[in-house]
Amino acid sequence: MNTYKRLLYYMKPYISRLCVAIVCIIFAALANLYVPWVLKDVIDGVLAQKNMRMLNTIAIGIVVVFFLRGIFYYGQTYLMSYIAQRVIIDIREDLYRHLQKLSLAYYEKRKTGTIMSYITNDVSALQVALVSSMVEIVQESAILLGSLGTMFFLHWKLSLLTLITMPVIAQAMKVFGKKLKKTSFVMQERIADITSVLQETISSVRVVKTFVREDYEIERFKVQNQSNFRAQMKNTQVMATLTPVVEFLAAIGVTCIIWYGGVEVVNGRLSAGELVAFLVYAVNLANPVKRLSRLFGDVQKALAAAERVFEVLDTEPEIKEKASAIQLPTIDGKVSFKNVIFEYKPNELALNNISLEVKAGQMIAIVGPSGAGKSTIANLIPRFYDLKSGKIFIDDVDITDVTLDSLRQQIGIVPQETVLFNGSIYDNILYGDLNASKEQVIAATKAANAHEFIMAMPEGYDSQIGERGASLSGGQRQRIAIARAILKNPRILILDEATSALDTESEKIVQVALDKLMVGRTSFVIAHRLSTVLNADCIIVLEKGKIVEQGTHKELLQLNGLYSSLSKIQFNNHD
Ligand SMILES: Nc1ncnc2c1ncn2[C@@H]1O[C@H](COP(=O)(O)OP(=O)(O)OP(=O)(O)O)[C@@H](O)[C@H]1O
Ligand SMILES: [Mg+2]
Repeated sequence: MNTYKRLLYYMKPYISRLCVAIVCIIFAALANLYVPWVLKDVIDGVLAQKNMRMLNTIAIGIVVVFFLRGIFYYGQTYLMSYIAQRVIIDIREDLYRHLQKLSLAYYEKRKTGTIMSYITNDVSALQVALVSSMVEIVQESAILLGSLGTMFFLHWKLSLLTLITMPVIAQAMKVFGKKLKKTSFVMQERIADITSVLQETISSVRVVKTFVREDYEIERFKVQNQSNFRAQMKNTQVMATLTPVVEFLAAIGVTCIIWYGGVEVVNGRLSAGELVAFLVYAVNLANPVKRLSRLFGDVQKALAAAERVFEVLDTEPEIKEKASAIQLPTIDGKVSFKNVIFEYKPNELALNNISLEVKAGQMIAIVGPSGAGKSTIANLIPRFYDLKSGKIFIDDVDITDVTLDSLRQQIGIVPQETVLFNGSIYDNILYGDLNASKEQVIAATKAANAHEFIMAMPEGYDSQIGERGASLSGGQRQRIAIARAILKNPRILILDEATSALDTESEKIVQVALDKLMVGRTSFVIAHRLSTVLNADCIIVLEKGKIVEQGTHKELLQLNGLYSSLSKIQFNNHD
C-alpha cells in the first residue's frame, strides 16, 4: 500500500492532467456499453415492431458515439503516456541524485551491475505499471461498473446470481497475486544477476583474456542464464494457470444466466431483447474481470520493481552532515588526528589509536607494509568514512562539523589508479575546476609536465579518451590526474602511491610534476619507494594500523627499527 502511495505522490504534480485522462478513459470505456444497449432496442423495437425511425436514430447514435470515443481514446493515450514518462523521469532523476549522495561504503558492498539495474530495468518496469496498467485498470473498472449498473437496471435478481461468482474469482486472483509477486521479485533479481555478470566480465575483458578464462566465464554466464530461465518459467507457470482458472469460473456464471434468464423470458418477466443485452453485458463483465486479473500480474511485477527503487531511495547515506554543519572556511592546511580508531568491518581494526599533528604546508610521508592502513588514513581526511572513535581536525575544526562539499573541495587526491572519464583530455582536466579558463587548464597541464605529450597527439587537447583512458600510458594518465589536482588547487594534497605504477624514467617526470604541486600545500605522500620521501618533514611508519615509528629520514635510520630495515632492503635493491 505504501508503495502505491509513493507512486501516487510522484503523480501529484500532474494531477490536473491525470483527472482529464481519467475522464477520457471512463468515457471511452462507457462507449463500449452503448452497443449492447441499442441491441435491446433493435430486437424489441426495430425487429419486433418494424420501427424504421428508431432504426435511423440508432444508426446515427452509433456513429456519433464511436466518433466521440475516438477523441477520448486519443486523449487518454496521449495524457497517460505523458504523465507516465514524466513520473519515470522524475523517479530516475531522484534515484540518480540519491545514488550520488550515498557514501563509498554503499558502493563497496554492492555490485555495479546491480546498482545499474535499479536505474535501468527497475525504473522501466515501473513504466509498464504506469502506462498500460493504469489505463487498463481504469478502463476495465469503468466497463465493469457500467455493465453491472446496467445489468441491475435490467433485472436485479439475474444480476445477483451473476455476482455470486465474483467473490470466487476475486479469491482466486488474490491467491495468484501473492504467488506472482514472489516469482516476479525472483525474476527481477535474476535479471540483475545477469547484468552484473555482464558488467563484470565486459569491464574486465583484459583479465579474462590474460588468464584464458573465456570458457570459465561462459560457464559462469550459463549458470546465471539458466537460473534466469527457471525464474521466468516459474512466473509463466503461475500466469498460465491464472487465466484458465478465472475463465472457467466465468463460463459457469454465463451458463447460470442463460438458464435462469431463459426461464424468466418464458414466464414473460423479461423481454428477449433485454436477455440478449443482459448476456452481452455479462460477457462484457467476464472480459474486464479476466483482463484485470492479468493486469494484476503486471502490477505486482511493477510493484516489486518499485519496492526495490524505493528501498534505494530510503537508504540513508552513511556519512551524514550535521544539521548544524557550517561551511569550512578557506583553510591553511593544518591537520591533526586525535586518537583515531577506525574499522571497515565490525571488530576488524584498520587504524588503532592514530594521533598526528601536521602543520600547514608540511609534507608528511606515510610508509609501511601493504595492508598497514596507509590508504585508510588518506580516506579519512576527506571523510569518506566515519571514525569509530577519536577526531580529525583541519585548522582546529572537527571535520564532522562542516559540510562535506566545503571539506572535500579543499582536498586534492591523486590516487594510485587514475580514473578518466570518456571524453576529451581537456574535459578530463577541467573536471578539477569546472569554472577554469582555457589558460588555467593549460597552465595546470604544463605544471604537470603533460602539455607536451598532449600537444604531440593529433588532436591535442580535444583527443578523445576511452572509458578508462585506454589509449594513454600509465604515466600519461597519472600526469593528467595531477593536472586535474593542480587545477583544483587544494590546500591539502594526498598522493596515494601516485608514481608506483611507473618505470624509473616516467617516475622522474611525474615526480617533478608532483614536487611542483606540493609546494605550499600540506601533503600526505603514501609511498612504497622510500626514495620519494627522503625529504619529507616527517615520515610516519605504519604497521597493522598503528604508528610504530615517526620522524625524519635521519632520525628513523638511527632508530634501527622497521623503517631502517625497510630502507636497507630497498636501497640495496636499487643500487
Ligand atoms: N573498503 C574496504 N573495506 C573493507 N576493508 C578494507 C577496505 N579497504 C581496506 N580494507 C582493509 O583495511 C586494511 C588497511 O588497508 P589499506 O588500504 O589502508 O592498506 P595500505 O596500507 O594502503 O596497503 P597498500 O600498501 O597495499 O595499499 C587492510 O587490512 C584492508 O584489507
Ligand atoms: Mg593503499
